[in-house]
Amino acid sequence: MKLFLDSAITDEIRKYYSTGMIDGVTTNPTLIYKSGRNPEDVYQELIDIGIPDISMEVVGDENTMIGEGRRLIKKFGNRQATIKVPCTVDGLAACRALSDEGARVNVTLVFSLAQSILSHKSGATYISPFVGRVNDNSFNGLDLIKEITATFCTQNVESTQVLAASLRDVHSVAECFTYGADIVTMPPSIFDKMYNHVLTEKGLQLFDADYAATFGKAL
Ligand code: E4P
Repeated sequence: MKLFLDSAITDEIRKYYSTGMIDGVTTNPTLIYKSGRNPEDVYQELIDIGIPDISMEVVGDENTMIGEGRRLIKKFGNRQATIKVPCTVDGLAACRALSDEGARVNVTLVFSLAQSILSHKSGATYISPFVGRVNDNSFNGLDLIKEITATFCTQNVESTQVLAASLRDVHSVAECFTYGADIVTMPPSIFDKMYNHVLTEKGLQLFDADYAATFGKAL
């Protein structure tokens, strides 16, 4: 059960990584653009923070993605760098080539069981089904997770892990694990909200008040 942060904001990632609960980071071109930074500066900082698994997305046609993937692996190392490719004909060909060379590949923009099967057949280490974007289009994103994990389980698929992505709320994050996802990636703001429960807050207020009453002083 691994938790990844879906972000390119290194200060936030550093803060939450220090909790000891974060297993990796996923980025994409939109997140990098929003950070206002050069992608490789972001990756280098994440490497320096010690993030064990960093998804770095490549774009373009098959050969461009393969070339970029190789360059990123050479620069940042196989241990921490995961190459992220889209679930397209070119993306899956790049996945095959890079996986055969020993790279971890994360196939992103997965919206169907059929795409998840092709990604597995292309040697993907991770597939990223987008829960939130499916929900945005009036389908049930969690059903997609359930369908993929059930099929991978029935077929004894072990070499490809389900990395649930595009999460917008705490409940869906937790449900992804219930439905068998191996990893869930989420924005730092959602991770932060995972701590919260109204009954915890209410209970703590009472305990604090009673503690203070016991010793005759406020905390
Ligand atoms: C997955 O790896 C993507 O980076 C991400 O989860 C997409 O999320 P969004 O649909 O909120 O943009």
